[in-house]
Amino acid sequence: MVDAKTVKVFAHRGGREWAPENTMAAFRQALDLRVDGIELDVQRCSTGELVVFHDEDLSRTTNGVGLVADVSFDELRRLDAGSWFDKEFKGEKVPTLEEVLNLVGGKCILNIEVKNAPVSYEGIEDDLLALIESYPHPETLILSSFDHYVLRNLAQKAPQYQLAVLADAVLIDLPAYAATFGARYFHPCFDSCRPDVVEQCHQAGICVNPWTVNGRKAWSRALKMQVDGIVTDDPEDLMVFLGRAVAVTV
Ligand code: G3P
Ligand code: MG
Repeated sequence: MVDAKTVKVFAHRGGREWAPENTMAAFRQALDLRVDGIELDVQRCSTGELVVFHDEDLSRTTNGVGLVADVSFDELRRLDAGSWFDKEFKGEKVPTLEEVLNLVGGKCILNIEVKNAPVSYEGIEDDLLALIESYPHPETLILSSFDHYVLRNLAQKAPQYQLAVLADAVLIDLPAYAATFGARYFHPCFDSCRPDVVEQCHQAGICVNPWTVNGRKAWSRALKMQVDGIVTDDPEDLMVFLGRAVAVTV
């Protein structure tokens, strides 16, 4: 039985309401709020570093143009990833995944979403596994992707990690599908998350964490559906809605 006390709160892209998405400012805020988990997106720049960034294109959330895949790390680091959100965040950088791993340090669950479409990063599974190999809290990681070939490769190469099937459709027999790569989590788009699907998953021991669930009506619906976690842009209001103590350091 999941309720307001036990449902897990995930900060989507670090929490998009309070800081520029996928930045250290957002992740710090999420940790200060003591969320249960942080979701972020990973891609690879031209010099091979894994960086935390959502769109394949730089233009919406930085002052740069072009593809993440085409810029070097030095070029990427010169970009401002904060001003588009608010001038208060001017100078915020695109973080590396390594920096975020160091910051989080097992203090909460970290859901690493591997982006591999529309831009395909050949071998990104190996880069990710090499990076998280030394993370001292592997049991707190959930690796997810819309590219299920990535999930299958991760399962074959490193079955010790927890995987989440990401999807925006109502799938037939999700538990059987998830079992093909040993995934213990299902992360559906909230629009395609239904009580029968949640029930089916629970019977198979699979936890369901839908995204992106914003606002009180949606949070109520998610709780009624007995989802295990709620991935939201607005973790602070969700914590208040759930009646959880908030300990934000200013
Ligand atoms: O991982 C859940 C969610 O983040 C997937 O969609 O586009 O926000 O990365 P997107
Ligand atoms: Mg994501």
